[in-house]
Amino acid sequence: MARIVLENLVKIFGAGVTAVAGVSLDIQDGEFMIFVGPSGCGKTTTLNMICGLEQPTSGNVIIGDRVVTDLEPGERHLGMVFQNLALFPHMSVFENIAFGLRVRRVPPADLNERVHRVAETFQITHLLGKKPAQCSGGEAQRVALARTTISNPDVLLLDEPLSSLDAKLRVEMRTELKRLHEQLRSTFVYVTHDQAEAMTMADRIAVMQAGRIQQIGTPLEIYRRPANLFVASFFGMPTMNLISGRLSDTNPPRFQADHVDLELPVEAVPAAAVGRDVCVGVRSEHIVLGAQGAAGRVQLTEPLGDETLIHFDYGGPSQLVAKVRGDHGPTDFEVGEAIAFDFDPKGVLVFDAEDGTHLE
Ligand SMILES: Nc1ncnc2c1ncn2[C@@H]1O[C@H](COP(=O)(O)OP(=O)(O)OP(=O)(O)O)[C@@H](O)[C@H]1O
Ligand SMILES: [Mg+2]
Repeated sequence: MARIVLENLVKIFGAGVTAVAGVSLDIQDGEFMIFVGPSGCGKTTTLNMICGLEQPTSGNVIIGDRVVTDLEPGERHLGMVFQNLALFPHMSVFENIAFGLRVRRVPPADLNERVHRVAETFQITHLLGKKPAQCSGGEAQRVALARTTISNPDVLLLDEPLSSLDAKLRVEMRTELKRLHEQLRSTFVYVTHDQAEAMTMADRIAVMQAGRIQQIGTPLEIYRRPANLFVASFFGMPTMNLISGRLSDTNPPRFQADHVDLELPVEAVPAAAVGRDVCVGVRSEHIVLGAQGAAGRVQLTEPLGDETLIHFDYGGPSQLVAKVRGDHGPTDFEVGEAIAFDFDPKGVLVFDAEDGTHLE
């Protein structure tokens, strides 16, 4: 059993830098948990406290049924893959993968069989005789994963393992990691600052900012019901459209901001927000361009193939972005063209104007 419980973990570095400011989390046995957040928010420090490379200032780490806070990394039965792979350059791929088993004096026949089995899983059998320097970035990545998973750790900790790969390989490796997780059924704790990576692979995501967890949830929970403006803006490409304004106390309610006055269905407006200053968030796919609504003017069209992004001004402080189907094509929207926009009510999120919490 490798459930991991983090109890109010705090890490303050020497000069009074609070890297982790009280993180509590219950990671289920066999779960794929991803920590995501901007650079410096404390992801690596949290991971290092789980594996024992950093000692917490306070709080506890529990793995399975053992409190491991004071145990050495080697006593925690974890596998770890770092951003820089640290493969041994003078050893062949085979020896790199076999290293941990040799240290534990696994008999040669058994060792040989296990290396070949794990090499097959990662489709690197043809590389076993090569040196790491003769492998591509993606191949070396798979060697590092093979080396770590060969000893069947209950827990696999991965710190931005894909960050050195090119965009296409990163996307391919996401699928491979997900498949690997399903095959191994061990607990994965994975760190990234890439929201798309988190969305596509995680069972659950912990969103971190400034040493704290802002929200824990499944990818879709976090995308559809972000706890606050930070989480709302962190997830999704392009970034969520945000407009500050006021929700009228009328029936039906209206959202009123500079140059915007749109009717909303009652069910789109949380009771707590009626008659108040709010920030309304609408993702690009929920901005409807059509005959009715507020007035805007197209500033830029960005064809992505299957979809096209339409950036437009409406007189407010920042541009808005609408996502339309690609078969509309950029020719349907000319730069400078006058348009009308409205919100798809099911995509309207309302946030507190002062503290940014999501009002529901
Ligand atoms: N050994 C250290 N001594 C002092 N401060 C540190 C140390 N390690 C990390 N920090 C600080 O703690 C904070 C969190 O760092 P951490 O490496 O956990 O961030 P991260 O979320 O992994 O960021 P990134 O995405 O850039 O890897 C940062 O402000 C960092 O500068
Ligand atoms: Mg880091």
